[in-house]
Amino acid sequence: MIRIAPSILAADPLNLERDVRRAEEAGCDWLHIDIMDAHFVPNLAYSPEVVRRLKEVTKLPLDVHLMMDHPETLADAFLKAGADIVTFHAEADTDPERLIRRIHEAGAKAGIALKPRTSAETVMPLLKQAEMILTMTVEPGFGGQKLDESVPDKIRRLRASGYSGWIEADGGIREDNIGRLADAGLDVAVMGTALFRAQDMRAAVDRIHHLTGKGER
Ligand code: DX5
Ligand code: ZN
Repeated sequence: MIRIAPSILAADPLNLERDVRRAEEAGCDWLHIDIMDAHFVPNLAYSPEVVRRLKEVTKLPLDVHLMMDHPETLADAFLKAGADIVTFHAEADTDPERLIRRIHEAGAKAGIALKPRTSAETVMPLLKQAEMILTMTVEPGFGGQKLDESVPDKIRRLRASGYSGWIEADGGIREDNIGRLADAGLDVAVMGTALFRAQDMRAAVDRIHHLTGKGER
């Protein structure tokens, strides 16, 4: 069964706690938090203080996605705030092995994200150290975009390389396209618009868990 991580970027910014509770009651598995520095992506989102406050109101694991040119500058602050998984981009200007070590030293799990145009081969040397690979299914920066259909092949290549960690996808995921990602070997689906705009989030989550009913990883 694929884990579902609602992206709070699509939640109501004036009612974050209410929407996080909705996600918890709907049976979501993690909470996805997009961090944007207005450099790596043309958008700005969420401080470590928001993560700290979210940690106080939810038991869902916090899946923090750093869309930053220099993720090491704030990684410690997000780890201290309570991030359970910290993912940075392979395209960022940072020392990936050193950053992964810092994330592990803080007791969290490390993820590496790939933009749609970045090949799976880019992260092959780091697969033994990263608990998760995030294959972006849209150009990072905004919710509500259309899923890039070339990404399922990238997921297959990662699986074919023998990678046994989690593979997460993020961007444009809906009930009518998640099946293709699941067949390719996906473990975690980040969903913003499709969940927070759903009439009945619980029913949507149940349908998606049902649709992707493979054995838990
Ligand atoms: C985009 C973010 C995603 C986004 C997903 O850069 O990383 O997490 O919020 O939202 P939807 O599901 O609406 O594409
Ligand atoms: Zn994200």
